[in-house]
Amino acid sequence: MAASNPHIPLKVALVGCGFVGSSAYLPMLCSEPWTDLVAVCDSDRSRAQSAAARCPGATCYASMSELLASETTLDLVVNATPPPVHEPVTRAALERGIHVYSEKPLAQTYEAAVALSSLSAERDLCLFPAPDTPSSAWLQRLAEIVEAGDLGYIHSAHCRIGEAFTLGRAREQWLLGPNVGVLEDLVVYPLTELTALLGPAVGVFALLTNARPSRVAVDGTMAYAANYDTAHVLLQHATGAVSSIDASSSCGMPDEYVLELRGVNGRAGIRGKRPQSVTMALRDSGGQVRDIPVPEDDWCAGVRYAAHYLSGVGDRPPISISHSLHVTELIERCRDSAATAAYCGLDTSFSVRDVRWVGDGRGE
Ligand SMILES: NC(=O)c1ccc[n+]([C@@H]2O[C@H](COP(=O)([O-])OP(=O)(O)OC[C@H]3O[C@@H](n4cnc5c(N)ncnc54)[C@H](O)[C@@H]3O)[C@@H](O)[C@H]2O)c1
Repeated sequence: MAASNPHIPLKVALVGCGFVGSSAYLPMLCSEPWTDLVAVCDSDRSRAQSAAARCPGATCYASMSELLASETTLDLVVNATPPPVHEPVTRAALERGIHVYSEKPLAQTYEAAVALSSLSAERDLCLFPAPDTPSSAWLQRLAEIVEAGDLGYIHSAHCRIGEAFTLGRAREQWLLGPNVGVLEDLVVYPLTELTALLGPAVGVFALLTNARPSRVAVDGTMAYAANYDTAHVLLQHATGAVSSIDASSSCGMPDEYVLELRGVNGRAGIRGKRPQSVTMALRDSGGQVRDIPVPEDDWCAGVRYAAHYLSGVGDRPPISISHSLHVTELIERCRDSAATAAYCGLDTSFSVRDVRWVGDGRGE
C-alpha cells in the first residue's frame, strides 16, 4: 500500500503518555529524523504536560477530540493507551484520515478489529499493529532457520512468558477490567510469535486461572479482577505442528521469556525478552548447543519501521494486519475455549510470507 502524501518529517501525535508512551515512544519520536512529534495527548493532563515538557514543540491535549480539533495536518497517531481505549482512539484517527500505529491488541473483540481494518483499507490508510516482535532480529533469524529446513519437520514449539506482579504499576489498574487479562496482554506475544514461525493456527484449547483474584489497585484500594492472570494455551497449526503457551502475570519471580522450536533434526530458540542470541542444537552435531548472535531488539522498532515506511525510506514492516486479525481471533477463541472447556476452531488465516522481511537482506 502506498503512503498517502505524508509530510517529511511526519507530523506525529502520541496518544497515551503512560509507561510505554513516555519511556519508550516519546524519546524515540523526539529524536528520530523522520518524525516530528507535534502533539502529545493523555486523559490525565498532567502526564501530557510532562511529556510535552520533554519534547519542545509538542502541544499537549487531554482528549482525542481536543487533539483532532486543533491538529488538522497529522500524518500518524501512535496509540499507547490501555487496551479498552485502543479501538476508539484508532477509529477517531482513521476517520480523520490519519495513519495509526496501535498498541496490542487492536481492539477488544475480533469484530471490532475487523471493522478498524476495513476502515483503514477504505480510506487507503496504514494501520500498523503491535506487537512488533515479528520485526525483531531474533524472530527473523528463527524464521530463516525454519525456512532453511535445518530443524527438519518442526512438530512442536513451546513458549513460557511470565511477569512478576509489581505493586502500584498503572498497568495493574487496567488489568483489573473486563476483557483485559493475561490473554489480551502477555499471551498476545507468544500467539503472534508462534504463528509467525509455525504459520496460522487451525484450533486452540485454553485453560485460565487467577492467581490474584483480588488485587491492590494503584490508588491503594483492593479491587476484584474481572479477568484472569494465568493461562495455558495449546495450539494446533495448519502444518500439523502443535505449540503450547504457559503465561502468567503473577509468576512471583523476575520476568521470564523462553521460546523453543522442536524439529525432528534439532531445536532452536531464545531465552530472555530481548535476547542477543538464538540458540540451536542439531542432532547431526550431537546436540551441542550453538549460540548465534543477533542484534538486541529495539523497543520502538514497530513505530520506527512504520515511520520509515510512511516516509518512503523503508520496507513494509513484517507486521501484517491479516496476522494481527488472526491473533485477535485466537484471543477470542481462547476465551471461548476456557469458558466451555472445548477445543475451538479458527476461521481466519494469513500468509507467513507477510511476516518475513522483504528486500532489505534480512529475510528471503
Ligand atoms: N507496560 C509494558 O511493559 C508494555 C509493553 C509493551 C506494550 N504495552 C502496551 O502499551 C499500552 C499502554 O501500556 P502502559 O503500560 O504504558 O499503560 P499505562 O496505563 O502506563 O499508560 C496508558 C496511558 O494512557 C492514558 N489514557 C487512558 N485513556 C486515554 C484516552 N482516552 N485518551 C488519551 N489517553 C488515555 C492513561 O492516562 C495513561 O497515561 C497497552 O496496550 C500495553 O499492552 C505495554
